[in-house]
Amino acid sequence: MILAIETSCDDTCAAVVEPDGRRARSNVVHTQTEHARYGGVVPEVASRAHLERLDGVISASLIEANITVDDVTHVAVTVRPGLIGALLVGVAAAKGLAYARSLPLVPVNHLEGHVASAYLADPSLEPPFVALIASGGHTALYSVEAAGQMYLLGETLDDAAGEALDKGARMLGLGFPGGPEISKAAKSGDPTRYDFPVGLKNRDNLDFSFSGLKTSLLYKLRSLGEEGAREELPHLAASYEAAVVAALSRKFLRAADIHESPTLVVAGGVAANGLLRRRLGEECEKLGLRLVVPSPELCTDNAAMIGASAARSPSIPFPDYLSLNARSV
Ligand code: KG4
Ligand code: ZN
Repeated sequence: MILAIETSCDDTCAAVVEPDGRRARSNVVHTQTEHARYGGVVPEVASRAHLERLDGVISASLIEANITVDDVTHVAVTVRPGLIGALLVGVAAAKGLAYARSLPLVPVNHLEGHVASAYLADPSLEPPFVALIASGGHTALYSVEAAGQMYLLGETLDDAAGEALDKGARMLGLGFPGGPEISKAAKSGDPTRYDFPVGLKNRDNLDFSFSGLKTSLLYKLRSLGEEGAREELPHLAASYEAAVVAALSRKFLRAADIHESPTLVVAGGVAANGLLRRRLGEECEKLGLRLVVPSPELCTDNAAMIGASAARSPSIPFPDYLSLNARSV
């Protein structure tokens, strides 16, 4: 059994994953709510909260999986990229646990972890495929050719898609994290009311840009005034969400087309978005493509995906990992 730990941002996570990386026996996520009042993640607050909660979250993951620490054969942990202080808490815990039990340790890249959530979602999935990872910190397209072989096809030139949603929500006076808040506000809105720009829409590349969208919302809010903006909130939210989804789906489908890939994987926090899931589902059905979308709980940060990635990654034998370090990028 793989015991996996993820603490790269503001979720304290531990999971037990079966050795083949296809099924999670448990997947415990403690979402830190203390950041909401600041409208964004405060790194120092995140590290301290991980430190306070990680032991309890690890114990809960073992209990939920109905195993004891004696059944653990590998310890996996996110080592990069992320908030350095937050990552260090997980890495130190993983090293301590593995060392005390003379176990091997598997360092995992967080983005490879997001991709690996698809192996849990579809147990028959194997590379090659094209993957879109859209989260709060990253938005990128990859060609996944084999375990450990992920080639960058394109990425955002400025904000990540999740970041654009978080910043947009903040401008609209909504809560954090912004993605789910914008979706909620957009429910009764008309997505065609405002024509927000879709970044790099007509460029022949696989890159994204969300900074123009953000600026466009800012100007729109200024011209509407406080009261007008309040009245128009559902339409503004729906149109903004639609622009983010259009940008993501357009380049994702273009990547699949260019690389002649019949299989597409979408993951990362923004892949929990209902509109994006529906839009991609419809488009892929029309084109006869196979789309793998993990459940929303596997899209947002979690440790099951880290365990799934570890099952396909080389491990470091006991005790060679003591000098292993976390990296922010
Ligand atoms: O992957 P994730 O949990 O953490 C990072 O690695 O960044 O992604 C977090 C991002 C946030 O920007 C959040 O607003 C967005 O994912 N998000 C969503 C939804 N749930 C989370 N965006 C759109 N719709 C959602 N349902
Ligand atoms: Zn993430």
